[in-house]
Amino acid sequence: MKYFWILFFSLLIHFNLTAEALLIPPLLEGPDIELTMQKGQLELAGGSSPSFGYNGNYLGPTLRFTRGQSADVKVLNKLGEETTLHWHGMHIPAEFDGGPHQVISKGDLWNPRFLINQNAATLWYHPHLMGSTAEHVYKGLAGMVIIEDEFSKSLPIPHNYGIDDIPLILQDRRLNRGGKFEYAPGMHDIMNGYTGNVLLVNGQIEPDFKIEGGLIRFRILNGSNSSLMRIRFDDGRNFRVIASDGGFLPESVEMNELIMSPGERFEILVDFSKAGGSQILADLYGSSSFKALQISSEGKKAAAFNPGSTNRPFSIKGESNAKTKRQFLMETRGMRGFSINGRTMDMKRIDFAALRGETEIWTVKNVRQGMMNVVHSFHVHDVQFRILDINGTPPPPHLSGPKDTVLLMPGDTVRIALVFEDYQGIYMYHCHFLEHEDNGMMGQFEVVP
Ligand code: C2O
Ligand code: CU
Ligand code: CU
Repeated sequence: MKYFWILFFSLLIHFNLTAEALLIPPLLEGPDIELTMQKGQLELAGGSSPSFGYNGNYLGPTLRFTRGQSADVKVLNKLGEETTLHWHGMHIPAEFDGGPHQVISKGDLWNPRFLINQNAATLWYHPHLMGSTAEHVYKGLAGMVIIEDEFSKSLPIPHNYGIDDIPLILQDRRLNRGGKFEYAPGMHDIMNGYTGNVLLVNGQIEPDFKIEGGLIRFRILNGSNSSLMRIRFDDGRNFRVIASDGGFLPESVEMNELIMSPGERFEILVDFSKAGGSQILADLYGSSSFKALQISSEGKKAAAFNPGSTNRPFSIKGESNAKTKRQFLMETRGMRGFSINGRTMDMKRIDFAALRGETEIWTVKNVRQGMMNVVHSFHVHDVQFRILDINGTPPPPHLSGPKDTVLLMPGDTVRIALVFEDYQGIYMYHCHFLEHEDNGMMGQFEVVP
C-alpha cells in the first residue's frame, strides 16, 4: 500500500496532473521594443533544464505592431555565444531580416529599424544562425509577433490579448528520466527530426485554461523543430479557420482538424458557449498523440458572428502571366545530408537573383527516394506566397491565403506564386524542419533592381 502511494505521487509529478494555469507570454507593444537574449532554466515535470529565452527563462514576449509603424528593436545578446534574430513572415529589408548573415556576437546589441509594411497577421521570431538554428530554437528562443491593421482592428472578433485572443506556441521536447531536456541529435534524429516525448504549450505541459465562454481566438504556431502536428479537439468540435501564415483567408472555413508543419501558423475561432471542459489535442506524425491544453468554460454565450466578415481577398499581382519560372528539387541524401537542386547551403554562394517587382512561379518537389521518404517543407523569407496547386489540384480553402511555409509530403509537388517588392538584398529559402535546414537544406537568393 505504501508503495502504491509512492508510485501514485511520482506519477502525479511525472505527468504533471497538478496542472498549472496557461501562461500567456507578456505583450510588448511597438514601435519600440527591447529584447535581451539570456540563459535560463526551464522547470518541467520535476526536472530543470538549461534554457534560452528573450527577457526571461524560456520563449519570449509577444510583440504587437500596427501597419505603418516604424519599429525600432534593440536586441541584446547575453547568451554567451553568437546567434541571430529572424523575423519569420515579415516583409522587411534584407539587412534586418536576421538570417544567417546578420550575426549578433556575444555581448552585442543589434538594432533593426524597419517599417511595418504588411497586412495583419500572426508571425514569429527565432534565431537563424548557420548550423545552430535547431539548437537555439530548441533551448527556447521563439516568440510571437502580431501585426494589426485597420481591417483587423475593425473586425467583430476577439481582440483582448490573453483574454479571448490567445497565443499558443506548440513544441515537443524530449525529457529524460530526470525531467531534463537537452539538444543532442543522433543520425536518426537528423533524418527524422529531433522529436519529443512531451508536448509544451507556451512552455508548459498540459496547462489549464479557464474561460468565461463565448468566442475564443487562438493564434496557433507549430514551434517545434521537426514535428508535423495534427491539431484537433477531443470532442471533435468544429472551429473556424480565419487566417494562415501571412494573414486572413480569402474565405474562412469550418474545420475540425489542422495539419501544421514547423513554423506554420493558423488563427482559429472556437465557440465555448457551452459550459464544460474540452481539450486541444496534438497528434505528432509518426509518433504519439498528446493532450496539449485543458480548457474549461463557464458557458457565457458567444455574440453573433458573421463568418464572412474576416474574409480578405488575396492574390499575387500578375500571377497568370508570370514569365519567370523556377524549380526546386528537395532531396534527401542520407548520410550526406539534404539538398535543394543538388546543392547544400553555402554562405558564400547566391543561388539565383530575382528581379524586384517581377512575379515568379516556383515549382517545389519533395523527391521520393526509395526507402528515404522524408517529410519536408518549403519556407521563403521576405514575402507571402500563394499556393497555386498541390499535386495539380487547387489548394483547400485554409491553404488559399497568404503563406510563407508549405508542407511537402514525400513525392508532393507544390506550385507557388510570389513577387519580391520594395526591398533588395539577400534572403533565404529552406526546409523549416530545423534539423534539415541545419544540415544543408537551404539556399539564398538576391533580390536585385
Ligand atoms: Cu522561420 Cu528562415 O525561418
Ligand atoms: Cu523565415
Ligand atoms: Cu526537410
